[in-house]
Amino acid sequence: MTTRGHDGAGGNSRGPVAQSESDTNLTGRRARWQERALDPATRALLAADEQHFLRQSVSTPCLNAIAKAEGIWIQDLAGRRYMDFHGNNVHHIGYGHPRLKRAIAEQMDALPFAPRRYACAPAVALAEKLSSIAPQGSAKVLFTTGGSDAIEVAVKIARTVTGRFKTLSFWDAFHGAGFGASALSGETLFRSGPAAPLIPGANHVAPFGSYRCPYGTATAEASGDACARMIEYVLEREGDVACLVAEPIRAVPYVPPPGFWQRVRKACNRHGTLLIFDEIPTGLGKTGRMFACDHEGAVPDILVMGKALGGGILPIAAVLAHPRLDVGGDWAFGHYTHEKNPVTARAALTTIHIIEDEDLVANAARVGSMALERLNAMMADIPQIGDVRGRGLLIGVELVKDRDSREPDHDLAEAAMYAALDAGLSFKTTMGNVLTLTPPLTVTPDEMQRALSILSDAIKTAASSRS
Ligand SMILES: Cc1ncc(COP(=O)(O)O)c(C=O)c1O
Repeated sequence: MTTRGHDGAGGNSRGPVAQSESDTNLTGRRARWQERALDPATRALLAADEQHFLRQSVSTPCLNAIAKAEGIWIQDLAGRRYMDFHGNNVHHIGYGHPRLKRAIAEQMDALPFAPRRYACAPAVALAEKLSSIAPQGSAKVLFTTGGSDAIEVAVKIARTVTGRFKTLSFWDAFHGAGFGASALSGETLFRSGPAAPLIPGANHVAPFGSYRCPYGTATAEASGDACARMIEYVLEREGDVACLVAEPIRAVPYVPPPGFWQRVRKACNRHGTLLIFDEIPTGLGKTGRMFACDHEGAVPDILVMGKALGGGILPIAAVLAHPRLDVGGDWAFGHYTHEKNPVTARAALTTIHIIEDEDLVANAARVGSMALERLNAMMADIPQIGDVRGRGLLIGVELVKDRDSREPDHDLAEAAMYAALDAGLSFKTTMGNVLTLTPPLTVTPDEMQRALSILSDAIKTAASSRS
């Protein structure tokens, strides 16, 4: 979706802004917030950042600068603290977990790097651990430094196994910024302009969505049915799709209706198509189960994870493939320099241990359902909330101009985001009007209640300052 100047008060003077899974960084509201909120030292750092980094949408120029990240908190240069309910989904265990920092330091002393031709114990230990928690029952793995690369490795495996090259994925999804991952993605920002031409054979279908169904249906079940039908249709018409790549729970967020993925799994089986789940943001407990697909009763052939795997400190992603897919020994899928880096592997292993030992997956389920309950209750006295949805600690609050028309209220969402920042809560908007809350799995019930009070006040303040 492309909108121009959606802040209603001058907007973006540089032209159209493609709405995506992140808030845009060039609006009039942002400029005015920065004018009011940032001190000279921060402004100087932001100016230097913009001078040295290539500008790109949703990223540079930046919003603010941070000096500290600890637990659920980030702190800006001026010393203001924000509960980080965004964190790019890397901060499942909170920032700077002491046990993780100790493990990384120990590993740097013991063995800082492993050249590619050498096995090392931490990488093998991580592979064993991932295999033991894989939804497939067991898995053979490859590691990369980022999620986009891992997605592309997964597609290469599917090509090898099936002897086909076509893919199927959802419009509106994001699977990474590489050419291959961009081809699978379904957002203008990442597919058009400099990203094109994309790799051939990348088919898309409109996704399911309970509140804004692209198929025009009125219920989650009908939306899931329409989407599953379209998947079945395309798989049949194409006849030779190598893999279907999707997030089991959509980032917007939209929870799939019951049975949806089981039906799609069956369709994939019928057509010899591999099912690849992108669990880069959701893996390791975000939705209240170790993997988002654990809610679905559908097991992927390949699962891709990243982000929080490095504990919010180091970059590492992983491809978990069913062992029967280990048939490409003559090819190089992911011949990456840091393929078996002992430090990132140790960080990932320790992160999983922390998540298990601190029972963080159960905490995500508990605090998440409490949050959803309160947000649903908030709808009674905040008419601008059109929809509340999510699972575990992946939560969306959709703001609308009117509940009947469901017209998205981008301006209100942005105003609420800045009002929340003023009160010490950081989150991002998705598709311009969905306030998206993705706190660490360590968040306590009290912290969640405090964040939701800030959120409620922020929406009310933003709404009343406009009326
Ligand atoms: C669902 C999904 N897939 C893939 C990626 C790409 O991961 P990375 O940024 O590590 O390449 C992201 C990152 O935001 C994501 O959210």
